[in-house]
Amino acid sequence: MIPKIIASKLHHFHQIDSSNNHAIDKIRQNDIQEGEVFWTDFQTSGKGQKGNVWESEASQNLLLSIYLKPYFIKPDRQFILSQFVSVGIVEWLSSLNIESSIKWPNDILVGDQKLGGILIENILKGNLIEHSVIGIGMNVFQTTFSKLLHEKPVFSPINMQSFVSSPLQIDVLVRELCDVLNHYYYTLMHNPTIIQDKYISYLFRKGIWSNYEYRNQLIEAKIEGIDTQGKLMLSSIYGEKISCDLKEIIFLR
Ligand code: BTN
Repeated sequence: MIPKIIASKLHHFHQIDSSNNHAIDKIRQNDIQEGEVFWTDFQTSGKGQKGNVWESEASQNLLLSIYLKPYFIKPDRQFILSQFVSVGIVEWLSSLNIESSIKWPNDILVGDQKLGGILIENILKGNLIEHSVIGIGMNVFQTTFSKLLHEKPVFSPINMQSFVSSPLQIDVLVRELCDVLNHYYYTLMHNPTIIQDKYISYLFRKGIWSNYEYRNQLIEAKIEGIDTQGKLMLSSIYGEKISCDLKEIIFLR
């Protein structure tokens, strides 16, 4: 029997500034336990990756943050947290018959449309990850999004309900997702290579020649894999090996 860590306590809010910020405030107040989940219907200052705003209409989408204390992961291997969460989301979606992929580092796509994203904020102490706040935003019902907030024309947003005929319920989805993530957190603790292998197998565009903007230059390259620090490894059509972080590369169509 797998111990229940994730969603040992599940807090629901109608409105909050950002579920990640709320968890970080609780950490500062020393008023939080591992596994607590903060789920909200609406965020007034939802945060996305790269300092972007995360847009979500009230009660239309799944918005939550999970608090973990992954002391067993060294800071230089923290990317594995992104991997376990993205793998869990892909497998949870698959249980709903939604076939998705992971656009490195942790966007969840169906085809080339974005279904959701992950924002992980870690607080390190010495050689430990003392606190980790894992924010997840999944589009469930929302159909119109502000164009300015998204990478265009590729990876436009899409919602889960468009792939499922029966009506989805956000509260049910939250509990199911937490159960799946609890399972994969246990796998991460005991058998991390399973997580790494699954992550690679779900990677969007792996081994496919595609166009990228790399350090402000257009290149054609294929994704080869991920290094231990979570950098994306590609090879260009000229045989050049590239290893890059999030700020250095843009996926193009
Ligand atoms: C991305 O840019 O793709 C990451 C989006 C992460 C959004 C979620 S919604 C719940 C949690 N709270 C936040 O403020 N952001 C994350």
